[in-house]
Amino acid sequence: MSPEQARYAVGPIDDATQPVRVVPGYRQTALRTPAQPLQQRPLTLSELTGPTEQAKRLALTGGDIAGRGANRAIGQLIQVRLRIVDEDGTPVAGTMLEMWQANAAGRYLHPNDDDHAPVDPHFCGAARVLTDDTGAIEIRTVKPGAYPVPDNGRWWRPPHIHFSVWGKLWLSRLVTQMFFPGEPLNNQDRILQAVPNAEAREGLIARAVPMTEGPEDALAFEHRIVVRGGRATPAV
Ligand SMILES: [Fe+2]
Repeated sequence: MSPEQARYAVGPIDDATQPVRVVPGYRQTALRTPAQPLQQRPLTLSELTGPTEQAKRLALTGGDIAGRGANRAIGQLIQVRLRIVDEDGTPVAGTMLEMWQANAAGRYLHPNDDDHAPVDPHFCGAARVLTDDTGAIEIRTVKPGAYPVPDNGRWWRPPHIHFSVWGKLWLSRLVTQMFFPGEPLNNQDRILQAVPNAEAREGLIARAVPMTEGPEDALAFEHRIVVRGGRATPAV
């Protein structure tokens, strides 16, 4: 193994820190899970390189998706302070983060969401932003609502925000979700509870910023995403 390969080598994933592959009662998880055991392949250039100049290829939206004035989305205004780090705590600077979420009524602006909850004409629920030099991003949005899962057995997703992060390497891409602290539905969520390790589950729940330290008009939450390694944020 070359020094570069050794540097980027990823140890076996600790299954306890990642969700079970197929979540009972959530049929999409079966559809997106490999049916065959994974094969370890030697790392080559296509694994040891990553996306470059992402902002030239995909349009950025900026981190403010709550709107203002007459165009302000309905719902509780929140500020999400994200920090993207590598497994050793190094900030992942200048990388692209994509987020998507339901509106305050629990409705996605997506053709697959035919839920009865209303669409908010002032809220698209998605953003594409780059981290700054410290790996940080701030997003101004509204708190997503809970929504029922159209699957067998009646259950609801707690409020959550989806994130996709492109790390320094193609292998570092992480798709995950952030949950809110103190939500009663967290303990019943089949996705969050599919992560066996309690500490790893905790890592998916944002921290409430003290009200005196947040903006005047929004509740603020802090959240850290670790893109790879043994302490990687669970990919849910
Ligand atoms: Fe969702």
